[in-house]
Amino acid sequence: MGKFPLFPEQASTFAPDVDHLTYFLLAVAVFFTVLIFCSIFYLAIRYRRRSDRELPDVPHGGLALEIVWSVIPFGITMVMFTWGASVFFKESRPPDNAMPLYVVAKQWMWKIEHMEGQREINELHIPLGRAVRLTMASEDVIHSFYVPAFRVKQDVVPGKYSTIWFQPTKPGKYHLFCAEFCGTRHSGMIGWVYVMEPRDYQNWVSGGTPAGTLAESGEKLFTDLACSNCHKADGTGRCPSLEGLFGKTVQLANGAKIVADEPYIRESILHPAAKIVAGYLPVMPTFQGLVTEDGVLQLIEYIKSLGPKPVVGGGGALGK
Ligand code: CUA
Repeated sequence: MGKFPLFPEQASTFAPDVDHLTYFLLAVAVFFTVLIFCSIFYLAIRYRRRSDRELPDVPHGGLALEIVWSVIPFGITMVMFTWGASVFFKESRPPDNAMPLYVVAKQWMWKIEHMEGQREINELHIPLGRAVRLTMASEDVIHSFYVPAFRVKQDVVPGKYSTIWFQPTKPGKYHLFCAEFCGTRHSGMIGWVYVMEPRDYQNWVSGGTPAGTLAESGEKLFTDLACSNCHKADGTGRCPSLEGLFGKTVQLANGAKIVADEPYIRESILHPAAKIVAGYLPVMPTFQGLVTEDGVLQLIEYIKSLGPKPVVGGGGALGK
């Protein structure tokens, strides 16, 4: 069905699932439309008024009929619900081994950042057959990341991270659209996704990374913004050490606990007072307006790269 001109190419693992569900919904709609219209015509003719004095015979009740026309639509809608939900869940849960990529949307372009440091605008190069997970942020208004050939579409909302994932199944060049009206040049906010053979992708991604990896850019920013003055690695600073922070559960001053994930770190940079770590004072100024969304993503990558730090003093050999 990939050649059917009304549908875009099927180029991801989701595409057949989404298309089959669409065909099913379409078939149900067509079936009932035809059924209802044929019934209208048939009944209008069959029960037309034949003489002016004819009085209709009004039927009362018909339990069997009412059960049938309640149970059958219920069954059909439950099939739609469970089928739709299963496709939705599949699209919502990226596999653990998915390749991470960052996307920053702004009026009117898509900025993509690869972990290795490659950056591109309105172009996205990815390897064939590999699950890819996008973490997306917006610099200004709501945009929507849409690749029809992959059957994925996700709003990118300012102030939070949106994620999306897909696994391309076919090499080629596919349209990337913004699917949310975002201003006068919304229609120009388009680009291309290039699905490459894994070896070609390796060559592409390793060919020249002038600015270093994302984590390296983040480390530079960390120093430039003087974050390191307070966030000392050994934990003696006025602010918590960030070594091994990512993915850890953090105890907050208000008694709550939170896992240090991307949204938490982003919030802590832009709204430092929102969640204060237990044992520390809210002394950090906001970096809103001082760091771009790109910068925040780089800082997050840097913090991730700090990894879990081994315990000083011999890795647990001290005993209790
Ligand atoms: Cu961005 Cu429309």
